[in-house]
Amino acid sequence: MTPAQDRLQFVALDVMTDSRDALVEMLKTWTTAARRLTAGQDSGPEDTGEAAGLPPSGLTLTVGFGPTLFTTPNGDDRFGLASRRPAPLTELPPFPGDRLDLAISGGDLCVQACANDPQVAVHAVRNLVRLGAGVVRVRWSQLGFGRTSSTSTAQATPRNLLGFKDGTANLKAENSSALDQFVWVGEDAAAWLDGGTYLVTRRIRMLVENWDQMPAPDQEAIIGRTKSAGAPLGQREEFDPTDFNAVRGGQPAIPRNSHVFLSHPNNAGTAILRRGYSFVDGTDGAGQLDAGLFFIAFQRDPERGFVQVQRNLSGDALNPFVQHTSSAVFACPPGVRDADDWWGRTLFEA
Ligand code: HEM
Repeated sequence: MTPAQDRLQFVALDVMTDSRDALVEMLKTWTTAARRLTAGQDSGPEDTGEAAGLPPSGLTLTVGFGPTLFTTPNGDDRFGLASRRPAPLTELPPFPGDRLDLAISGGDLCVQACANDPQVAVHAVRNLVRLGAGVVRVRWSQLGFGRTSSTSTAQATPRNLLGFKDGTANLKAENSSALDQFVWVGEDAAAWLDGGTYLVTRRIRMLVENWDQMPAPDQEAIIGRTKSAGAPLGQREEFDPTDFNAVRGGQPAIPRNSHVFLSHPNNAGTAILRRGYSFVDGTDGAGQLDAGLFFIAFQRDPERGFVQVQRNLSGDALNPFVQHTSSAVFACPPGVRDADDWWGRTLFEA
């Protein structure tokens, strides 16, 4: 619920040990370190040092448990957790147009570090990885800059790499009844996840060079909002209501295949909390930037959240300009409550 910070390091890890005790011990060590790191201190005696003297910079750390932590792809119940896997925590289904690289998808665990200083986020992840040596191994990682969503009404809406305001119609922290309905897990499927949520990541490459060839009015028809103000087409201001009945030149002002039309709750029938970041990971080796949106969404149920919206986007006019290259889903346990609490306690303490 922290208003989205400007920088991200996201890391997915695989658990290397078969010892449930070692895993639990690491989660306790991580929690102790995270308490210090989010207060602007070092991670403990062996800290790597590169954040010495820096302020906490709004650092938040969020952990998640992937489906493979509960049951491996070959059906092994490595940690006695199989019966505790909430039914909604399953691998995401394939979607048309996916170009997933399995080496940068999935993972047994994840850590999301968000901060306003990239050095602080990177330092936190590095030290958790250090403290997890022998228990976990990094599977893949993603750096992000320039939050692509506002998650609080107090924040100005940022722009994504397509040049459009992103996050205007996002769920906002102030709207607690919508968060209860769409983001927080209640006693839905597994008691241990009560007060938690599900996190979906998608690394979405944008074909920015092709996008940049499009005149702005064509780009606006694809998104369904104006480029400068971010207003719904047919309206003037960013926060004017989206009017799907508005007509322009005899046609719907907001085209029926536009991104906003298809993803809006009126059409998708659901809502998600978006909290993604931009990335530029060098080039693709073929003369184009490997740039895009590291999409992160939080929802109460992946199937009724991301999956439902993404299915609805199968005819999205934006699709020729994007490629999904990585995918993952995690269950995030409820936040740490007091000084004795630790990440995952409700899951591991039966
Ligand atoms: C690179 C890929 C994407 C880009 C550039 C993008 C961009 C945008 C922009 C500019 C808006 C309008 C401003 C706003 O209300 O936030 C928007 C809205 C939205 N997007 Fe995306 N988006 C992308 C992918 C996705 C994906 C994968 C999903 C979910 C499966 C999604 C779900 C939504 C939703 C739910 C809205 C709000 C619609 C409304 O209620 O009006 N977007 N997106």
